[in-house]
This record gives sequence, structure tokens and C-alpha cells, in this order.
Amino acid sequence: MDMFGMRTTKGFSVMMGFVALASVTLLGVYVWFICLKQMAAYNPIVYSKPIRGMNLGVEECLTSGARPGNRSHYPRPTSYSRAECACNPVHFFAILSMQRSGSGWFETLLNSHLNVSSNGEIFSVKQRRSNVSSILSTLDKVYNLDWFSSASKNECSAAVGFKWMFNQGVLRYHEDVVDYFKRRGVSGVFLLRRNLLDRMISIIANTYDQSVKPLNGTHKSHVHSKEEAEVLASYKPTINVSSLIPDLRRAEEMAAEAVEYFKSTRHMILYYEDIVNNHSKLMDVLDFLEIPRRDLISRQVKIHTKPLSEQIENWEEVRDALKGTKYEGFLAPRGNPSQPPRRSRRHVM
Ligand SMILES: *[C@@H]1O[C@H](CO)[C@@H](O)[C@H](O)[C@H]1NC(C)=O
Ligand SMILES: *[C@@H]1O[C@H](CO)[C@@H](O)[C@H](O)[C@H]1NC(C)=O
Ligand SMILES: *[C@@H]1O[C@H](CO)[C@@H](O)[C@H](O)[C@H]1NC(C)=O
Ligand SMILES: *[C@@H]1O[C@H](CO)[C@@H](O)[C@H](O)[C@H]1NC(C)=O
Ligand SMILES: *[C@@H]1O[C@H](CO)[C@@H](O)[C@H](O)[C@H]1NC(C)=O
Ligand SMILES: *[C@@H]1O[C@H](CO)[C@@H](O)[C@H](O)[C@H]1NC(C)=O
Repeated sequence: MDMFGMRTTKGFSVMMGFVALASVTLLGVYVWFICLKQMAAYNPIVYSKPIRGMNLGVEECLTSGARPGNRSHYPRPTSYSRAECACNPVHFFAILSMQRSGSGWFETLLNSHLNVSSNGEIFSVKQRRSNVSSILSTLDKVYNLDWFSSASKNECSAAVGFKWMFNQGVLRYHEDVVDYFKRRGVSGVFLLRRNLLDRMISIIANTYDQSVKPLNGTHKSHVHSKEEAEVLASYKPTINVSSLIPDLRRAEEMAAEAVEYFKSTRHMILYYEDIVNNHSKLMDVLDFLEIPRRDLISRQVKIHTKPLSEQIENWEEVRDALKGTKYEGFLAPRGNPSQPPRRSRRHVM
């Protein structure tokens, strides 16, 4: 009985030893796995061994014949397999813009391409931009193709990005963001508006719509029919002329500041008016993103199409306030000699 008791104790301590050893080993493997995952998240090129065996790394892709462009990445999402598109290079981008500059419309056009996933205004959610680490981990998730939205094409995305408004942390944390863009090879696509007075009308009208909701009690920032556009455009904003010039200057300075911050990153600058007037500008974007050219379409309909003089309640006052200032050009009728007239009111390209 004594022997049996002793053997049990001995067996027990041997077993305890084994459990301890196993735990330490498991912990080690876990830590190693986490480290590997994080390093892979930051540098997809160097740490290229497949983590779970389901997504290929860059080395496997290169030996299988894929050819990377200058900005190509081979993300390995943690939540699914890229399947037959595992060796398709992916371009990382961010649309950098301001409210009411046509970026919603621009994004729907891009997302009509079967290889583009532009995931919307993800930083409109405050917690995601409350500090640098939350911004960077959100970016990691997007560029690792682990972000899901109605626009995600997931496995066959060849360009992945989102829409980032200047007032959503991108300017505030510009140093870290520029550093991230360079480190991970993210291209900036600036979408700006040439006519900031037009933009101001759109802002005031959108704010009005938010409170009055003339479309059957729902607020719509974008519309899909001419009838809806006409309802929204029938509201004529009154512009506060005493704050007009400072407001225009502030918008202009914000755009200039943003371009200045990102000038050392790979980027392109697009103007809303130019895209409206020239369909080919969109092909420049596809070339810039190194993805195949395709026709791009959007169901969105432009809201404000009438001349400014018919769109602004206190037009004469506004005109007088801008005459002789550097913003006088904003008063010129649309479709002026330097720009061809709009071909159609529908944005189908
Ligand atoms: C990479 O960049 C070089 C120099 O900027 C350019 O000549 C080349 O065409 C680019 N390659 C691709 C695939 O875009
Ligand atoms: C950053 O913000 C997130 C989300 O708001 C929060 O959970 C986290 O604790 C913050 N981190 C730091 C370092 O402040
Ligand atoms: C685009 O997507 C299609 C199907 O989803 C896929 O077959 C094709 O390889 C993708 N193209 C690129 C350039 O990734
Ligand atoms: C309002 O709702 C009615 C009935 O659902 C619809 O026929 C009409 O087109 C809507 N009007 C607008 C401006 O959306
Ligand atoms: C117009 O702008 C001025 C200067 O910013 C401001 O003091 C005033 O309250 C504004 N008026 C209206 C009606 O909003
Ligand atoms: C339209 O855009 C394309 C591409 O940027 C450009 O080559 C062309 O000159 C533009 N056409 C006009 C009429 O501005």
C-alpha cells in the first residue's frame, strides 16, 4: 500500500512537471505566433511565410509567376482565404477629401469596378480615430483585407482602401499617417473641389435637408433619381456674407495643408469638376492604382445643376461680396469656356 501511495505521488509530480512544461511551450508558441502575426501585419514583404497555410506569401507568389508592381502587396487576411486570387497583387489607397466634394459619388464609381474595395468613411466612427494606435490598427485591418463592408470584394480585390475626410484624424495625426503610408506603400487619392462656393451651397443644403427632410421625412446626402435631386435642389440657401470669405479661405487652406503634409507620399490630386467634365480622368485613377481599365458607373444623380445665380437666395449680395476678390472665379457660370459643357446630368461613365 505504501509503495502504491508513493508511486501515485511520484506519478502526480511527474505529471505536474509535464503539464508545466507543456504550458510553457504552448505559451511560447502563442507569443511567437502573435509576434509573427504583428510583424507580418507591418511588413508583408519580409515576413512572407504563410501563417495558416491558406494564404500565400509574396515569395510563393513570385515563384508561381506573379509579377509585383511598385505598390503591390500580397495581404494575407486572417479570416478567409484569397483563393484563386491569392497571387494577385493588391494596391493600397485612401481617398483623401472633404465633406461635400463629390467623394461619395467618386467612391461608388470606383466600387463599380469588380476589383476595387473602397470601404467608405470608416473614420466617421469616433473611437476609431480617438488616438494613433486605434487609427493604425484600423488601417492594418483594412489593408490586411480583414475589413468587411458592403463594398468589399475580398479575395479578388486588387485595390483596397477607404474614404478619409480631412477632419477625421488624418490631418490631426498627419505625421503618423504619412509614416504609415510610406511604410506600407499606401497611395493617396486627393479628391478636391475647384469651386468652393458650390461646395458651400451643398453643405448648407445638406444641413437643411438633415433638419427638414423634404424627401418623405428621410435625410438623403445622395440621391438616385432626377425627381429626388429636384426636390433637394429646390431649396435655395442664403449665404452669410460676413463669414463667406473667411469660410472659403478656411476650406482652401485645409486642402492646401493636406496636400502639403502628404506631398512626400505617392499621391494624385483630382478635382471633382474635372471628373464631371471629362470621363477619362477616371481612367487615370485606375492606371494610378495599377488595375485594369473598365467602365465605371454610379447610380447617384447630381443634385445642384442650375446656375449659381438661381441657386443662391441672396445671389446679388454674394456676387458683390466676391467681386474683386481672389474668389471671384467661383461666380462664373458652370460650363465656362475653359471647361466643356456637361454631357448629361446622370453620372454614368
Ligand atoms: C515602377 O516605377 C518605375 C519608376 O518610377 C517605372 O518606370 C515602372 O514602370 C513602374 N512599374 C510598374 C509596374 O508600375
Ligand atoms: C485608444 O482608443 C481606443 C478606442 O477609443 C481605446 O480603447 C484605447 O484604450 C486608446 N489607447 C490609448 C493608448 O489611449
Ligand atoms: C478581378 O476579379 C476577378 C473576379 O473576381 C478575378 O478573376 C481577376 O483576377 C481580378 N483581377 C485582378 C487584377 O485582380
Ligand atoms: C414619397 O413616398 C411615396 C409613396 O411611397 C412615393 O411615391 C414618392 O415618390 C415619395 N416621394 C419622394 C420625394 O421620395
Ligand atoms: C454671420 O457670420 C457672422 C460672422 O461669423 C456671425 O457673427 C453672424 O452671427 C452670422 N449670421 C448668421 C445669421 O448666422
Ligand atoms: C480628359 O482627361 C484625359 C486624361 O487625363 C486627358 O488626357 C485629356 O486631355 C482630357 N480631355 C480634355 C478635353 O480635357
